[in-house]
Amino acid sequence: MRAAKRPVEPYRIKVVEPIRKISRQDRESALRRAGFNIFRIPAEKVFIDLLTDSGTSAMSDRQWSGLMVGDESYAGAKNFFNLEAAVKTVFGYRHVIPTHQGRAAERILFEALVKRGDYVPNNIHFDTTRANVEARGAKAVDLVHDRAYDPDSGHPFKGNMDVEKLERFIRAKGAEKIPLAMLTITNNSGGGQPVSLENVEAVSRVCRRHRVPFFFDACRFAENAYFIKKRERGYGRREMAGIARKVFSFGDGATMSAKKDGLVNIGGFLTLNDDELARRLKELLIIGEGFPTYGGLAGRDLEAMARGLIEVLDEDYLEHRVGQAAYLAELLDRDGIPIFKPVGGHAVYLLADRFLPHIPRREYPGWALTIALYRESGIRAVEIGGVMFGRKEKGGAPAEEIFPRLEMVRLAIPRRVYTVSHLDYVAEALSRIYHNRDGIRGLKIIRQASSLRHFTAEFEEL
Ligand SMILES: Cc1ncc(COP(=O)(O)O)c(C=O)c1O
Repeated sequence: MRAAKRPVEPYRIKVVEPIRKISRQDRESALRRAGFNIFRIPAEKVFIDLLTDSGTSAMSDRQWSGLMVGDESYAGAKNFFNLEAAVKTVFGYRHVIPTHQGRAAERILFEALVKRGDYVPNNIHFDTTRANVEARGAKAVDLVHDRAYDPDSGHPFKGNMDVEKLERFIRAKGAEKIPLAMLTITNNSGGGQPVSLENVEAVSRVCRRHRVPFFFDACRFAENAYFIKKRERGYGRREMAGIARKVFSFGDGATMSAKKDGLVNIGGFLTLNDDELARRLKELLIIGEGFPTYGGLAGRDLEAMARGLIEVLDEDYLEHRVGQAAYLAELLDRDGIPIFKPVGGHAVYLLADRFLPHIPRREYPGWALTIALYRESGIRAVEIGGVMFGRKEKGGAPAEEIFPRLEMVRLAIPRRVYTVSHLDYVAEALSRIYHNRDGIRGLKIIRQASSLRHFTAEFEEL
């Protein structure tokens, strides 16, 4: 059988952070102390941490040296102007407003634009985007194409918005009820799937026709641009920066969590063209985040972000980045382990209900798989399924829980942090678990919060 293509790291390692294998006994007692919730396990008790790709990137030597030229002036720090120049180069919009992370950018944008009774369409809203829309008394609506929910569809752009649904939705609700439409690139909640340039252009056309402002949730814009280059006809010879710039040319602005494709551990921003809206956003920024030239960040953070945004468009980096997810996915797939296809840019998603068919949805197979993975190997992953998104119908007791369509476990790969041998270790651990899966048990929740319960809930094994 053909060996999986091993992605060669396009970097040398200059500083190392030791990680420690945890004994089986220690893993078992960590699980019990954490109430069988991997969010409650101290990071020091984790060997390989695939909980998230957000804020977990390794910075380059250029970024670290950027920290030393941090200008910590309250107003007008030189690093702000470096960030502004980098964002304008990559995105092409007139205004740049730093925030401490992505959800702060969302909160401020929605505070300025969204009011009670409004609707905000997106391909699929990420949880913080949805929560910030709902906090304004508006409704967050997912209008992704239906194939996004089919884990076996091999469509190359499963993040695409269904443009006809969008058109119908705007006509049905009226454009005056839709203060903005968004596209999340790549679509994190739908398996990290990309959006094609053709779809971006079509969404933009509908929004323009109805005069609905069009914003990107741009966290993983560079990975999205790489997929366009590789999968969309006509872009094979284009530079990454040119593709990203073309994508943004169809929108009016973007919210950005630079903890992803800004290659930093903290940071975000808003960027847009509308002068009047930018003025209002800066007023709101001052109340909650800080002066418009630092927005809740230190000067050194702005500098690292400015440098990261340029580095992330390096094609060798992106080939390796997307290659790591593809490599891990191929190892798992060849072993018969069920995964969401095609693989996205930042993570591999396991189909937990197919992995553990003997555990019913009400006993949380995805959650059980995260526990088994930690117990077997000290690897931390995150459930994206019944615990994270399950909910009870209001009223009518005893209410049955309603589960999301997909029951998945996400293995998110931090940027420039792990090597091929770490990925081999993950694949070997999953293989052992898969071939002995009959012994894995479901769980029941014994304590939970009323919202975002996955962060703190406690469980008992059945
Ligand atoms: C698509 C998407 N949007 C928004 C956010 C929120 O960003 P932050 O965690 O920086 O607030 C995330 C974070 O994971 C995300 O994946």
